[in-house]
Amino acid sequence: PIVKDLFGLSELEEAIRCRFGLRKVVVVPGDSDVSDEVKRELGRAGSRVLSQSLSPGDIVAVMGGTTMARMASHFKVSAPLADNWFVPARGGLGESVEYQANTIASELAKRTGARYRMLHVPDHLSEEAYQTMMQEPNVREVVDMIRGARIVVHGIGDAATMARRRKLDEDTLRELVKDGALAEAFGYYFDRDGAVVHRMATAGLRLEDIEAAGTVIGLAGGRSKGEAIAAVMRFGHDDVLVTDEAAAEEVLRRS
Ligand code: BG6
Repeated sequence: PIVKDLFGLSELEEAIRCRFGLRKVVVVPGDSDVSDEVKRELGRAGSRVLSQSLSPGDIVAVMGGTTMARMASHFKVSAPLADNWFVPARGGLGESVEYQANTIASELAKRTGARYRMLHVPDHLSEEAYQTMMQEPNVREVVDMIRGARIVVHGIGDAATMARRRKLDEDTLRELVKDGALAEAFGYYFDRDGAVVHRMATAGLRLEDIEAAGTVIGLAGGRSKGEAIAAVMRFGHDDVLVTDEAAAEEVLRRS
């Protein structure tokens, strides 16, 4: 409440932008933890930011999750994107089909006339299976496109919530807690300082590809995600954050 009295939405945006050295921050009013309408608005704001960021020829790598799914269902462009590709940033991350990156990439493409590719590679591959998969020309080709993406759009989750959703085994869960994992984004787990404490070995986007991408857009809201969002912003590879008021207040309180 104190933060809210002092800051309007645009001041919140500016305070977070400066705090983490971001290019742009968009804050929608409300708390998507408690209101579905706010989550829809967050999705719409994310889709506006993505369409403003797109240039002809861009490959866009997208992650999964419920927030990303909202973004995709509101995505609109004024002219067909004949020259763009949407690809899933990683293989299946144990999400249900409607929230998988593959589904979101195909929906974005279908809504805009862009092209898309799917990555049909499951999670938790053994090193041997991974090497075999990567020798498949089809898989290799998609993975190369993913790794060359100019734009990356991803959700951010609370570490414990995401670990449960992805059905990580008990030993890994204990290890995450021990290592202080607070946040999860693109299959990586982060502690409060934004250091990577755990990664899931899947084909697709690696940290170096995220560092190399021209525009990385984080899309996450809800007060319960404030701490996780702050941790991922400390990791420091996002350029744009789209969030809601409750998460934004929490982010500032924690930084
Ligand atoms: C996904 C990311 O985009 O969104 C995950 O790949 C993240 O890393 C997740 O944790 C958050 O999902 P949701 O459903 O809370 O938007």
